[in-house]
Amino acid sequence: MRRKIALTGIKPTGLPHIGNYFGMYIPALELAKEYDTRYFIADYHALNTMRDPKLLRELSYEVAATWLACGLDPEKSILYKQSAVQGTFELSTLLMAFTPKGLMNRAHAYKAKVAENTAAGKDPDDGVNMGLFTYPVLMAADILQFDSDVVPVGQDQAQHLEMTIDIAQAINRNYGKELLKIPQPLIRKETGVVTGLDGRKMSKSYNNTIPLFLEPKKLRKLVMKIVTNSQTIEEPKDPDSCNIFALYKLFANEEQISDLRKRYLAGGMGWGHAKQELFEVMNATLTPLREKYQKLIENKDYLDEVLKKGAEKASEIVSRKIDFLRKEIGLG
Ligand code: TRP
Repeated sequence: MRRKIALTGIKPTGLPHIGNYFGMYIPALELAKEYDTRYFIADYHALNTMRDPKLLRELSYEVAATWLACGLDPEKSILYKQSAVQGTFELSTLLMAFTPKGLMNRAHAYKAKVAENTAAGKDPDDGVNMGLFTYPVLMAADILQFDSDVVPVGQDQAQHLEMTIDIAQAINRNYGKELLKIPQPLIRKETGVVTGLDGRKMSKSYNNTIPLFLEPKKLRKLVMKIVTNSQTIEEPKDPDSCNIFALYKLFANEEQISDLRKRYLAGGMGWGHAKQELFEVMNATLTPLREKYQKLIENKDYLDEVLKKGAEKASEIVSRKIDFLRKEIGLG
């Protein structure tokens, strides 16, 4: 029996933070134990907004190096750039024929843009390109081309997954058979979110992130900025309502966690001390990752090679799927 397939893509839009690491990279990589995994860099999706070629190329390398630094094994998983697999774009065209325009009108990202334009008294479609409008179709092609069984994504992508399913079902219904595998979304739980510097969910849009590969000095400086209350050193402190402790639990082992908990409850420990403890466990975990990342990002030849092999493997699978579909549909 074939192993089930898991696929996920990331738009190359900037360096990852520790919220992405615990919320996305680690759980997605865990799937490799159970599934045949495919990870890709959604550079064509990024092109809708990113028009600086140097930056787009660099950001794509950064995402590739991040996957590898976090433990992706290119021998076992496929890592590729979306733009390198031509079949994706043929499938996307095929899917377009079955995608109601009204479905795209309802996509959150597009609707939000239209609402924003309308509120500002602009043309509703101001600044909307067809790449943005048809974003969910290309995403459906990414997924359906591999007969993906599961797709791990954040809550913000749930609607896109529903649209993928709608489009696939329309095609299967039309031809009276399962030409396309109906994927199952694996939506990440919001309960697992990582706390940011200000106590809210760590997110680029809140500007409260701790980048994953920050050098130690800068990392320490940022940790020292974590928001706390104004309790004095002497006062006993509540670990469970503390932003520092919430982060500490992600990096420390059981013994360290219980030790620090005792020091909180006993009083006599200031926030500066707690922050120093946090910095130390964080730095211990992140140093090997950072070093791996640095080596990878300085070795573009290696990254090119991994991505090329990944694209070859992906293209082969996708070509077979396209050939099959072309025949079934009356094109081939
Ligand atoms: N839309 C996703 C995001 O913005 C990225 C993405 C593109 C994706 N294609 C995908 C994710 C296919 C999962 C599967 O985060």
